[in-house]
Amino acid sequence: MKSLFTIACLATSVLAAPAPPKGTFEWTPTLAGYMDVVFSYIQAAKAGAPSPTCDLSKAAMPVAPTPLPTPAGLTLDHVALGRGVQNYTCANATATPAAVGAVARFYNVSCVASDWPDLLPIMPNLALQYPLPAAPDAPLEPSNLVLSTHHFFSNSTTPVFAFDAPTSPDLGRVFAQKANSSEAPTNSVIGPNGQGNGAVAWLYLTSRATTVGDIKAVYRLNTAGGNPPATCQGQDSAFSVDYSAVYWFYS
Ligand SMILES: *[C@@H]1O[C@H](CO)[C@@H](O)[C@H](O)[C@H]1NC(C)=O
Ligand SMILES: *[C@@H]1O[C@H](CO)[C@@H](O)[C@H](O)[C@H]1NC(C)=O
Ligand SMILES: *[C@@H]1O[C@H](CO)[C@@H](O)[C@H](O)[C@H]1NC(C)=O
Ligand SMILES: *[C@@H]1O[C@H](CO)[C@@H](O)[C@H](O)[C@H]1NC(C)=O
Ligand SMILES: *[C@@H]1O[C@H](CO)[C@@H](O)[C@H](O)[C@H]1NC(C)=O
Repeated sequence: MKSLFTIACLATSVLAAPAPPKGTFEWTPTLAGYMDVVFSYIQAAKAGAPSPTCDLSKAAMPVAPTPLPTPAGLTLDHVALGRGVQNYTCANATATPAAVGAVARFYNVSCVASDWPDLLPIMPNLALQYPLPAAPDAPLEPSNLVLSTHHFFSNSTTPVFAFDAPTSPDLGRVFAQKANSSEAPTNSVIGPNGQGNGAVAWLYLTSRATTVGDIKAVYRLNTAGGNPPATCQGQDSAFSVDYSAVYWFYS
């Protein structure tokens, strides 16, 4: 375990955060793969790779299996790692689960998107394996990511993204609507510990008129987990499914 902590501490410093990770992280293939990529960036940094710039104009959004509309004419403001639950209801045993919203905390990965892009698609797979920190505003380990946004729904068709975290700048409160979607890639992580019903769709969301601030478009990409079972057989009338994803915000 000692080497894991050494690497984890290096990961923390490479990702521009001062404190060592708190708590223990069970060694899994996903964590190992993540640390391999962290380590490759550490090696590159030691070999004189340019310092990180956190320049979002360098960040390239991944393309969905069925390509989503591009954010033409818009500027990338923020990239966040989301971790939380998708909520569903079941009317009866023969119904299909109905999506009724989601609740998640978002953490700032803007610099990861611009400077360590190979880490970004692994982050939801890793985040899905662990619960959120007990303290509501605490950073997300093992990379000490800072809380930036709270995600919830104001009604069943209105996802909200509130930049109200005490640790981050206030980019407003986005009231959005689904504008387009793509199935997640077939190799997406289906749930925690490889158990689950699949990764929720990749989405293109646009701002409603009630939005506070300048954000016009939000993408939900690199999803892991979150899908409900195919039928309501044996399900509670309301239940939640763990998920994680990377969100891109444009103004
Ligand atoms: C989704 O986006 C694609 C690509 O831009 C477009 O061809 C398609 O018509 C869109 N679908 C909807 C429902 O807007
Ligand atoms: C089960 O719920 C669905 C969705 O609300 C409804 O359409 C269907 O009629 C219900 N079936 C029974 C047997 O109650
Ligand atoms: C979703 O479920 C969680 C419990 O897992 C609950 O705290 C939250 O209020 C629910 N939110 C919505 C919008 O259904
Ligand atoms: C949900 O909220 C949006 C924005 O406030 C509103 O336009 C829409 O009509 C609402 N939908 C329902 C089903 O209440
Ligand atoms: C994200 O982190 C970068 C680098 O620390 C910072 O400049 C930016 O303001 C943060 N954005 C948000 C929305 O938290």
